[in-house]
Amino acid sequence: MCGIVGYIGPRDATPVLLNGLKRLEYRGYDSAGVAVLTDGHIEVRRTAGKLSRLVELVDQTPLSGSPGIGHTRWATHGVPTARNAHPHLSANARVVVVHNGIVENFLELRDELTAEGVIFQSDTDTETIVQLVEKHQAAGLDLVEAARQTFQTIQGAHGIVLMSADEPDKIVCARIGNAGGVVIGLGQGENFIASDIPAIMEHTQQVIFLESHQMAIVTSSHVQIETMAGKSIQPKIHTISFDAAAAEKGEYQHFMQKEIHEQVRSLTDTLAGRVDFQAGRIRLPELKLTTELAQKIRKIYITACGTAAYAGMVGKILIEKIVRLPCELEIASEFRYSDPIVDENCVVLAISQSGETADTLAAMEEGRRKGAAIWSIVNAIGSQAMRVAQGSLSMQTGPEIGVASTKAFTAPLVDLYMLAVLLADLRGNLPDADRRALVSDLRLVPQLASRVLNTEPEIKKVARALKNVRDCLFLGRGINMPIAYEGALKLKEISYIHAEGYPAGEMKHGPIALIDRHMPVVCIAPQDPWHEKMLSQIQQVKARGGTVIAVATEGDELVASLADHVLWVPKCPWMLSPVVTVIPLQLMAYNIATLRGLDVDQPRNLAKSVTVE
Ligand code: M6R
Repeated sequence: MCGIVGYIGPRDATPVLLNGLKRLEYRGYDSAGVAVLTDGHIEVRRTAGKLSRLVELVDQTPLSGSPGIGHTRWATHGVPTARNAHPHLSANARVVVVHNGIVENFLELRDELTAEGVIFQSDTDTETIVQLVEKHQAAGLDLVEAARQTFQTIQGAHGIVLMSADEPDKIVCARIGNAGGVVIGLGQGENFIASDIPAIMEHTQQVIFLESHQMAIVTSSHVQIETMAGKSIQPKIHTISFDAAAAEKGEYQHFMQKEIHEQVRSLTDTLAGRVDFQAGRIRLPELKLTTELAQKIRKIYITACGTAAYAGMVGKILIEKIVRLPCELEIASEFRYSDPIVDENCVVLAISQSGETADTLAAMEEGRRKGAAIWSIVNAIGSQAMRVAQGSLSMQTGPEIGVASTKAFTAPLVDLYMLAVLLADLRGNLPDADRRALVSDLRLVPQLASRVLNTEPEIKKVARALKNVRDCLFLGRGINMPIAYEGALKLKEISYIHAEGYPAGEMKHGPIALIDRHMPVVCIAPQDPWHEKMLSQIQQVKARGGTVIAVATEGDELVASLADHVLWVPKCPWMLSPVVTVIPLQLMAYNIATLRGLDVDQPRNLAKSVTVE
């Protein structure tokens, strides 16, 4: 989704902006631009396509100065062209804006402004913002008040950054609703603004997150936070521990590849400090889970989107099995429209890598409105989903840059397992020996992941065999059924091969009609309680001429004798098996996509952080 960067201070803003935008590329975009204040006027450079084209344009027609703002746009209103790319200038070219979100009443505002004689330069909703600011300035307001009036007029959720040639000492920004974050990085005699921390991480670790309906007036030496009504707010300053190096590709060709291989470390960090192997106990203080709350809960709703939702599906199985408490996985985009039966005895648990997914935030709000306790499992530190929850577990994965989520899938699987053990313990329904055994199994996880990663050369061979297929079916059962969904999602989003995940038992109710020699079927068949059922599924596929790619436990000769290709995984306790079975599917999707020569980290039409409904 759109990326925003701003800079004010003594340096030339252009390289700071371009560099910051580069670090936001992973969010997905289709055009980019920068605006810099230079010699009393605003210079803008914008292009459609990749950031490298903007860099070329800036090389050909350089611009320098400060302050400056930059943007990568993911088109919503108006096709992705240079004309529609941000930043957008006002009619007198004295004010400029970058924006993340949708101005819901833009047609009405545009008609009003057009009737007043404003000639629009783009097809975007964003331009109404800057034209409104100019209109209020013409009526005598300064930039801050003109911006405030504008923020109160536009409808929808927004992250907005504005500057004016007439007040060169400041940048004004605002966050309205959940259209993505606005974070202000504090420097020495300079300040930074961004939609996401990676854009400014190399400059500072001290940041302020704007909350919804707050605006900020940022100069090179001061940051003033206010409500939309003008009340001054004392902001909380957060120290971000992400190491800038963690956002670099290093020895890897792609971020996705790096992130898949980082899973041994991220899983180790996920356990660190949370598991007491000696006592056989789990500690999750960030969740603020008291015995009283644990015993009061009657139902848990896990809510999330995409990959995070598939992690939630595994979580449902773990919670119901270990805690014996009803648990539902609700797709976040549906939750608030389904009139869910939620009350103060429920927990709504959101899972989100970005912590800024609009649908997930709206589902959390629905839960809060109905009186439920709100928890989250989030990767992006300081994100909205982390801040609005009563208790939040932080995924210990570091920044995930590749659009296709990998390490932010396996970490919450372990978080959910630990949560289930803790909850059952606090509710007093987990016998000591069972608790100790469940906790003890966790120590295996990083090593198991490492063993699967070592099989990449074998997985590559399978990828070569599959690289030209048109469709692919993924089947799984029980706790590995969500892994069929996740395997299919990984393949389709980066390789553009049509892939469907299906509960294996449902195959005979429809998808079986598709099976012939052109239909590869990935069967997730480790030695878990559903193993025998999966064997019969594999036989049914083979009987119809399908090609079987099985994910199987090392030494499983039966599966090996039936399948055309085997992706081997080590023997593993079944409740932790999804952590292990998903990794070969991540690697297979990655290798197929690279063999097809595709842009793995930034697949077409996708955004890393989906901040619109
Ligand atoms: O940031 P979130 O975890 O809330 O994002 C949810 C989905 O948009 C995300 O998982 C998406 O499905 C990924 N592209 C999957 O790889």
